[in-house]
Amino acid sequence: MVLFFLIFFLFLSLPNSLLSSFSFNSSTPPCHSHESSALLHFRNSFAVGYSNYYCDVYSNPPKNSWKMVTDCCGWDGVTCDTMAGHVIAVDLSCSGLHGLIHPNSTLFSLRHLQRLNLAYNNFHGSTISSKFGGFANMTHLNLTYSTIAGFSIVGYPVAGSSFAGNFPSEISHLSKLVSLDLSGNIDMRIETPNLKRLIQNLTHLTELVLYGIDMSSVSTNCLTNLSSSLTTLRLNGCQLKGKFPDNIFHLPNLQVLRVAYNYNLTGSLPTYNWSTPLKSLFLSETKFPINIPYLISNLKSLKELTVGGCNFIGSSYPTFLSNLTQLTSLDLSYHNFGGQFPWSLLNNTGLTHLDLSYNNFIGQLPEVTRNLTQIFSSNNSSNSQLLNKIPSNLEYLVLSGNLLNGTIPSWVYTIPSLRYLSLDHNKFTGHIGEFQHTSLVYLNVSFNNFSGNVESKIFSKLKSLQSLDMSNNPNLSLHSFTSATNILSKIHSLQLSSSNITEIPQFLRTAEYIEYLDLSNNHIKGNIPSWVMEVGKDSLYYFSVSRNNLTGHIPSLICNLRSLRFLDFSYNHLNNMIPPCFGKLSDNLIDLNLQSNNLNGTFPTTFAKGCHLRSLKLNGNQLEGALPRSLVHCRKLEVLDFGNNKINGTFPCWLETLLELRVLILRSNNFHGAIGNPKTKFPFPNLRIIDLSHNEFHGLLPTNFFMYLKAMMNANADKGELKYMGDSYYQDSVIVVMKGYFIELVKIHSLFTTIDFSNNNFKGEIPEVIGELQSLKGLNFSHNNLVARMPQSLGNLTNLEWLDLSSNKLTGEIPIQLADLTMLAFLNLSENHLSGHIPQGKQFNTFTNDSYHGNLGLCGFPMTKVCGNDEGQQPSPSSTIQEDDFEFENGFHWKVVLLGYGCGFMFGLGLGYLVFSSGKPKWLVNIVYGGRHNKLQRS
Ligand SMILES: *[C@@H]1O[C@H](CO)[C@@H](O)[C@H](O)[C@H]1NC(C)=O
Ligand SMILES: *[C@@H]1O[C@H](CO)[C@@H](O)[C@H](O)[C@H]1NC(C)=O
Ligand SMILES: *[C@@H]1O[C@H](CO)[C@@H](O)[C@H](O)[C@H]1NC(C)=O
Ligand SMILES: *[C@@H]1O[C@H](CO)[C@@H](O)[C@H](O)[C@H]1NC(C)=O
Ligand SMILES: *[C@@H]1O[C@H](CO)[C@@H](O)[C@H](O)[C@H]1NC(C)=O
Ligand SMILES: *[C@@H]1O[C@H](CO)[C@@H](O)[C@H](O)[C@H]1NC(C)=O
Repeated sequence: MVLFFLIFFLFLSLPNSLLSSFSFNSSTPPCHSHESSALLHFRNSFAVGYSNYYCDVYSNPPKNSWKMVTDCCGWDGVTCDTMAGHVIAVDLSCSGLHGLIHPNSTLFSLRHLQRLNLAYNNFHGSTISSKFGGFANMTHLNLTYSTIAGFSIVGYPVAGSSFAGNFPSEISHLSKLVSLDLSGNIDMRIETPNLKRLIQNLTHLTELVLYGIDMSSVSTNCLTNLSSSLTTLRLNGCQLKGKFPDNIFHLPNLQVLRVAYNYNLTGSLPTYNWSTPLKSLFLSETKFPINIPYLISNLKSLKELTVGGCNFIGSSYPTFLSNLTQLTSLDLSYHNFGGQFPWSLLNNTGLTHLDLSYNNFIGQLPEVTRNLTQIFSSNNSSNSQLLNKIPSNLEYLVLSGNLLNGTIPSWVYTIPSLRYLSLDHNKFTGHIGEFQHTSLVYLNVSFNNFSGNVESKIFSKLKSLQSLDMSNNPNLSLHSFTSATNILSKIHSLQLSSSNITEIPQFLRTAEYIEYLDLSNNHIKGNIPSWVMEVGKDSLYYFSVSRNNLTGHIPSLICNLRSLRFLDFSYNHLNNMIPPCFGKLSDNLIDLNLQSNNLNGTFPTTFAKGCHLRSLKLNGNQLEGALPRSLVHCRKLEVLDFGNNKINGTFPCWLETLLELRVLILRSNNFHGAIGNPKTKFPFPNLRIIDLSHNEFHGLLPTNFFMYLKAMMNANADKGELKYMGDSYYQDSVIVVMKGYFIELVKIHSLFTTIDFSNNNFKGEIPEVIGELQSLKGLNFSHNNLVARMPQSLGNLTNLEWLDLSSNKLTGEIPIQLADLTMLAFLNLSENHLSGHIPQGKQFNTFTNDSYHGNLGLCGFPMTKVCGNDEGQQPSPSSTIQEDDFEFENGFHWKVVLLGYGCGFMFGLGLGYLVFSSGKPKWLVNIVYGGRHNKLQRS
């Protein structure tokens, strides 16, 4: 489904072609030496690595004449002014530049620049310097990047963005600007004043392309004054909300208007005076009411229309289909259209692209679809087999997530022009045949039930294949395939997760473009072969061999992988030290997961300023030494998990300044000392999960931290939307101890909040302020030396599902308020000095003796000791634990993986459904697979 957008993006980007082919004109005077050295200096300030997919498909980058020619006006991508010889245009798009653009960059000394194209390089989240505003004569500025919503064209997630931070107001000094493209920089933000200034000052603007940039705080009013010369406005996926100004539809020259995927953008399409040249209108997933017949009859030039998930008014589907005489591209996805699709109505249309995904269509694809070259029909209820014949000019066929069964019909193997084929998430069976498509770029057959032996010759004709996903076909035997060589030499993305493979595919030895490699959940044995590190040197950015049987050490060659962003070697048997050169990688890494191996020694890396790390997981190794202090440089850090190691030191309160930190797990290490007081005013503002258990912390519970854990306080803040941590390109997982089990939350729900300080030497009282942390789902202070009464404020923790205060020295009665905790499913107060009545009724009827034993003074149900004036109120029999015990309220689901109870059991990763029952206490657990609904965004 990622594919829709991807393909669309590909398809629609094509005509835009490459902006600038500034060819060298041999009659120009030689270039000025200061400009020549500025250019060289600029270029040499970057490492050169892999550019990205876009460049492979559309550009021929070798720009190496810079070394051979002395006159900079003769360099590829450089254009000089014919009169004065000044450099006036620089096109370094797709040059594979990696590094930061500093405000002191020599680029900014090229004052005469009129065109600058730095598209598709990797500037590592540089901010756009205000110095860009200094190019007085700039007409074309292009800093686009290839990601949109984190997805690349070939259907797998891509890393990060090129520029980040705030859009500088100085861009509005570029009053001669005609074309501005900053699209795809999804970590960039524009605010109202700067956009307003931009629009007011740039009166010559014809192209404004900002899709993917965060405009969530922008007031749409400021778009009112857009220049009347505007031909292209692309603001897809900008989080715009509110009313879209009417006058934009009347701009006399507007040809391309794309504002789709701004979910809360509303407005009304005009009923008169449309800007008639409009060719491309993207409104999917907005709140505009749309009257298609009206649009079609009034916009005579309209060729492309996307209205997926929109509200239709006026005469409805399917009657308008027969009127689509001029449209070539139509997106009707995300509606509730059902029944047979009326293919015959398309007979006289010129439609080439049709997206019917996410409807309830049934039936078969037609034998004759006329001009259609692109059919997207994923996630319909189609339960039939594919037809015998489909038009031979088909380029894109996307049928994911239907209920298609049987074998793949033979015609599929021979469609000559096919480029994209998605048959994933269906019920296909049988052998996979030999693909004949020499132009196939993308092939996805994952999540089916194919069987038999996959011979390498199946792929021998696929000379153009860039992306292959065969994951999760448990009955396929891939041995001949993985041992083959000389196939798939163009591969960029290979996904063979859960495929029973036993080796890293040999053909990857020559796969020099490999970027994304997911071999998780297999049976790969032995050492990590060093050739992988050679092959992926410039391009590999996602590498997962998690959950295999790898042994040996992590080779230091790994540090060759200069583009690496996501590295996952978790759940293997790797040993020895983490190579010291890891520091070299840490500048780029976003997600490093080495948990559950046998790594020892200290964690070697020093993280530099500007570190991009979001998630660092080293749980379950034998690491020693201290936590690296340099982690404070990782301002984006969300998850830090050093649990189950031998780390020592005191509480790392220096982490309190990390604004994004959500998960801090230091469980089972050698930490000691008191926690102390925060050093800053708002410590740990986003912390949701903290586990300090099984250490030697002592002193009082840290009241002054509890007071500020804002993210744990606002229970209702973001209940509306189900959010998981990690964004579109990675999903975070973490192990928590929940109700006595080690449970891996494969997706960390952003509402999930727990505190576990158990098995330390904390003393003193449980502070009253704990009652403020109202989103807490789990609280564990067991096995400490806590005294005095349980605070009544515990009764305010209305979301609490498990509470363990056992093995302390608590006294007094159990606060009656606890009976109001209707979510509470697990209670352990055993081994304290509690006395008096056990609260009765509601949840308390479900707890057994085990919850209270070792408190000699307690009386009432379920204890045998009767209270002095007990009325003998007989509670209802304790209810059996529900099967959906781990399915929390408000409908969110988890994929949970049980890793065992205590140290007894060990379970592997199981998708789907697993029932677990292990003695005491008896829990039946329903493991729910959480399908995240990832909408695609087209730009
Ligand atoms: C920016 O440059 C890229 C790569 O050269 C190109 O594909 C894109 O169309 C350009 N943007 C504009 C608005 O011309
Ligand atoms: C620019 O500044 C950066 C960081 O402040 C520094 O590392 C770099 O050497 C400077 N470059 C130039 C050309 O002065
Ligand atoms: C900008 O353009 C104007 C008019 O073409 C010219 O006079 C001026 O020298 C240019 N400025 C720079 C810095 O190139
Ligand atoms: C508008 O452009 C002019 C000319 O470059 C510049 O002097 C002025 O500061 C700009 N105004 C704003 C609000 O940026
Ligand atoms: C859209 O608006 C609704 C209601 O104001 C809000 O709850 C929701 O979070 C918004 N959605 C997005 C994607 O901004
Ligand atoms: C759609 O086509 C039908 C005939 O096929 C015609 O009668 C009708 O007026 C058309 N509707 C519009 C809105 O053009």
